[in-house]
Amino acid sequence: MKKQRYNAVKGVQDILPPDIYIWQKIEAAAKEIFRVYGFQELRLPIMEPTAIFVRSIGETSDIVEKEMYTFTDKGGRSITLRPEGTASAVRCYVQNHLYNLPSPQKFFYSGPMFRYERPQKGRLRQFYQIGVEAFGVSEPKLDAEIIAMLRVFLERIGLSGLNFEINSIGCEKCRPGYRDALLDFFSSRLDSLCPDCKRRYEQNPLRILDCKVDACIEQRKDAPVVSDFLCDECVSHFSELRSILEMLDVPYVVNPTMVRGLDYYTRTTFEVTSERLGAQNAVAAGGRYDRLVEEFGGPPTPAVGFAVGMERLVALVKDTADSVPSPEVFIATVGKDAAQKALLIAEGFRAKGVWVEVGYEGASLRSQMRRADRFNANYVLILGEDELKRGRIGWKNLKDGSAGEVGIQEVYDFLQKNLNKI
Ligand code: HAM
Repeated sequence: MKKQRYNAVKGVQDILPPDIYIWQKIEAAAKEIFRVYGFQELRLPIMEPTAIFVRSIGETSDIVEKEMYTFTDKGGRSITLRPEGTASAVRCYVQNHLYNLPSPQKFFYSGPMFRYERPQKGRLRQFYQIGVEAFGVSEPKLDAEIIAMLRVFLERIGLSGLNFEINSIGCEKCRPGYRDALLDFFSSRLDSLCPDCKRRYEQNPLRILDCKVDACIEQRKDAPVVSDFLCDECVSHFSELRSILEMLDVPYVVNPTMVRGLDYYTRTTFEVTSERLGAQNAVAAGGRYDRLVEEFGGPPTPAVGFAVGMERLVALVKDTADSVPSPEVFIATVGKDAAQKALLIAEGFRAKGVWVEVGYEGASLRSQMRRADRFNANYVLILGEDELKRGRIGWKNLKDGSAGEVGIQEVYDFLQKNLNKI
């Protein structure tokens, strides 16, 4: 049969060592920090009924219009590979009656998301997010708390100097006035908008502000900004948020043109960006969505959350990352009996939680030593027929060059003591 090589699907990537160590470091930091802020983990399904995304993200959003991986399953149901986590979290919150638990309920989740976008640096068709969602509190204190948590998390993984942009996009009370102003503004510019935006004009003119087509970007330059249309409650919500962020020492800028590409947001929206990322510069984004739980059939429940894009974080952390982990001990051997004994010694170390590598397939001592070096091991143990007969084993500290010999029986204690010093 003719042999065939296969590649991963376009826009989808494998995650390999050494990058995987950065992923693990980020994931561990997220868990540790979310725990102290009281966020519990949800494991959400990767596929969901299509309707939950259409309803929440919105029919006129880019995601729903163009980017969803949607298929009909064998039972005739329309299923979508989740393009994001908020809709799933809300579906889960309502389905499992989590609103019966004391508020706020705070959750985090992580995993792959799928969007059929044009792949480029920092933009994939399968990408990973870590997200948080907090339900049941409308006070801006909670918005500020999660933005502060995001900052702590980013700093913990070595990222500082990122831009925190915030905005308020109003509520169901003030949005209609803004919508009218947008309709008014774009009515004389309709001919210059892209076909999608002509449709958006009818259905949801706010989406024109999020369009990536150059002509639409040009046309909306002087469009009315939402901050001029906020009702009193939204104004005071936003100003309280800002003063708490200041108290918590979170540096932010107000970006009055940021509307976000998803329909469910009310009031607070925010994005964290980095100049180091190029065109796809948002590492994290989120906001408040006070209507969604109710729209999904739950009781009126305000909520707020964010998601970070893992690939973009990894790209940023890569510049600052520690070296990759390396084995603590490498056992080099000469002769078959010594090679077998080395396996037994390795097993003893591994049972004590020490990472040990051994030489294989009759490689010369020199090539085994080279391998130990490449591994960046801390210690090499050297076992030949002669040492074996004497019940001894040679050791060399590859970090400081010191060397010696110990009894095979004592080697565990000897290394355990010395490894702690490295
Ligand atoms: P989003 O802005 O669509 O928001 O995505 C959040 C983050 O996911 C982005 O800032 C970016 O880092 C990453 N991201 C998005 N699309 C891609 C892609 N194609 N390739 C690589 N990374 C990507 C949401 O998803 C909301 N669910 C956030 C949220 C949670 N709002 C409230 N709660």
